[in-house]
Amino acid sequence: MQDIDYSVQLQLKKNEIITDYELKKITLETSMKIFCKDEFFYRNRMDFPFSFDGPGQRQKGRFDRIVSFEKCYIANSGVDAAFGGVSAWFNAHRAEIDVFDVVKRAGTMRYATIRSPLFSQETSITFIFNAESPRIAEQKELIKQFAAGSAVKNVLLGLVKYNTDQSTVETAEIIKGSDVIFEQLGARKFYFHTQGFFQSNSGVLLDIIHFIREKLEGRYNTLVDLYGGVGTLGISLSGTADEVYVVDNSRLNSICGRKNIEVNGAANVKIIESDAGKIGELALGAGRSVFILDPPRNGIHRKVLSHIKTVLPEKLIYVSCNPATQAHDISVLLENYTLDDFAAFDMFPQTKHVESVAVLSKKPARANI
Ligand SMILES: C[S@@+](CC[C@H](N)C(=O)[O-])C[C@H]1O[C@@H](n2cnc3c(N)ncnc32)[C@H](O)[C@@H]1O
Repeated sequence: MQDIDYSVQLQLKKNEIITDYELKKITLETSMKIFCKDEFFYRNRMDFPFSFDGPGQRQKGRFDRIVSFEKCYIANSGVDAAFGGVSAWFNAHRAEIDVFDVVKRAGTMRYATIRSPLFSQETSITFIFNAESPRIAEQKELIKQFAAGSAVKNVLLGLVKYNTDQSTVETAEIIKGSDVIFEQLGARKFYFHTQGFFQSNSGVLLDIIHFIREKLEGRYNTLVDLYGGVGTLGISLSGTADEVYVVDNSRLNSICGRKNIEVNGAANVKIIESDAGKIGELALGAGRSVFILDPPRNGIHRKVLSHIKTVLPEKLIYVSCNPATQAHDISVLLENYTLDDFAAFDMFPQTKHVESVAVLSKKPARANI
C-alpha cells in the first residue's frame, strides 16, 4: 500500500474492521483509536525467496515470479543490513549458487529468512535448502564461507521438502552463533527461537502490552495466556495475577517460554505445551480470572469458545491479526459478555493487515442465566 498516503491507509484499515464487525451485527465506534509507530522500516522478520537474480519478494499473486530490489522499505535496519549482505554475497558467487527453480522444483537454495529484533539487534539468517537436492553438501560450504565473512551473529541452515513452501523448519542446523535470539521489551528480555513465533513489530507490540495492562482491573487469581507463544503477553502482565498459564502448541515456543520465565524472574508463570482445543482438560481459570486470546488468523478453536462459555472468566482480552474471524468469535461470546473497549494497532504499515484488541467483561450473573 506504499502508493497510498499513510493517513488514508489507517482510515481504510479502520473501515475494514468496522465492516467486518457490521457483518456480524456489532457496531464499533467510528472514532476507534488506531495506534501506530514507524510508518516505514519496522519489520523484524522478512523471508526472501531466491530467484536467479538473487533474493527478493514474490510478485503479488504469483508464486513463480520473484522481484529483485536493493532496499526494502518495511524491513527494519537490521534486516535491511543482513539482506544487503546476502544480496552482495549472491552477486559475488552467482555462478556457484544453485538456486531452486519453483516451476521445475529442482535446485538447492530457496529462502533467506532474516530476523532482527529491533531493540536487541540480534540478527539471524536461516538459509532454506531443498532437502532433495543432490548438491546440499557443496552449497552448505558456500553458506559456511558466507557466515565466516558476515557480521551477522547467527547463521542457520534448514532443509524442506521440494514440494512444500516453508521458510522456517522445526530443526535447523547452526552454522554460526545460536538458534535462539532475544528481544528486549522494556525491562524484560524475551528469548525466541529463530524458527519459532515472535511478533513482527516490537514497537507496536509494546503499545499492545501497555493497552492491555491499562484494561486489567485489580488483581486476578488466574491469568490464562492462550496461544501465548514465548509468553510475551503473559510474562509482561504476570504482576496482575496470582497464577499465570501460557498455553501454546509449539515445542520451540514453549522451550523459549520456560527460559523467559527464568530470565524475567516470573515465578508465578507456568508454560503449558498443548493444543488450545484441549483447554477443557487443563482445568485452568480458577477464581477471578482473565483470559488473553491471541490466536492465528483462523481465530479461536470452537472448543475454546465453548470452554469460555462454560467457565465464564471475568474478563477476556482478544488480540487478533484478522478482524473478520475476531468479529465472528466475539459475536458468539456476546451472549455472555459485553464489549467494553476496542482499539486497532497498525502492526503492519504499508500492507493491508492490521491488529486489533477487544476487551470484554462478563455480564452480571442474572444476565447469564
Ligand atoms: C499470533 S501468535 C501469538 C503469540 C503470542 N501471544 C505473542 O504475542 O507473541 C499465535 C500463537 O498461537 C500458537 N498456536 C497456533 N495454533 C495453536 C493451537 N491450536 N493451540 C495452541 N497454540 C497454537 C502459535 O504457535 C503462536 O505462537
